Amino acid sequence: MKRELAGTARDLAAYLRTLDENLAEFSPAPSGVRSPSAPAAVPSVKPPPESPSKMQNKPAVDMDSLSEQVNKCRKCGLGHARLNAVFGVGSRKAKVVFVGEGPGFQEDHRGEPFVGRSGQLLDKIIETVLGLKRSDVYIANIVKCHPMKNPETPEAHGNDRPPTPEEISACRPYLDEQLRLIKPACIVTLGSVATKVLLGIDKGISTVRGRSYDYPVELFGPGHPITVIPTYHPAALLRNPNLKRDTWEDMKMLKSFLEKAGGE
Ligand code: URA
Repeated sequence: MKRELAGTARDLAAYLRTLDENLAEFSPAPSGVRSPSAPAAVPSVKPPPESPSKMQNKPAVDMDSLSEQVNKCRKCGLGHARLNAVFGVGSRKAKVVFVGEGPGFQEDHRGEPFVGRSGQLLDKIIETVLGLKRSDVYIANIVKCHPMKNPETPEAHGNDRPPTPEEISACRPYLDEQLRLIKPACIVTLGSVATKVLLGIDKGISTVRGRSYDYPVELFGPGHPITVIPTYHPAALLRNPNLKRDTWEDMKMLKSFLEKAGGE
């Protein structure tokens, strides 16, 4: 028992050190560089009670065609302003899908989710606690295009904003279709926006995290739920390093869930 506790303390200390090294790499932020792309204020996102695609248990398309659809999508204003659609990245057979809020400046430029400062921190967390690589999991966002305060200036820093409920509703079917194709055992929601939208609840992340939930949409029919583990957005950890410990607990919960489910 004593040995187990000492092992846990060592793991936690190693995790905190690794994340601190990561933070040190990036701070202090050079002047003129925008802050991490999660919003300071979380909008009151009232998700639709059920996904528009609830009744359709089989994927309608393959992943490449879905990605093409997203690239061409103009269902909301974001599609007209973004530089690149940000579909998702990682293993299409992943057991766990991490879901953020929406692309920021870096992601819009690269066409890939979580490639900025918070993305690099997310990679470290995945490696340190789960022992996995970014390419072992799948990473996506609630909305696929960069929500900008001023859509005319995609080259401007500090131009991020949270997605509106309308933008979220327009984009939501794409995420459910991705999930249907990947068939993960678990979804990790990163931050309040993703958590509110995917769990259909209107509570902040600090209240909701620390336990797991069933995804309320029956993507694979009754009796085949996907487990949802909410945790803090990595950008919140960059702003408040005290949250790293709770995130570690959440990722340990994910790790034991994945071990029981048999693989990443
Ligand atoms: N924040 C997000 O929510 N998603 C990204 O892809 C990048 C930053």
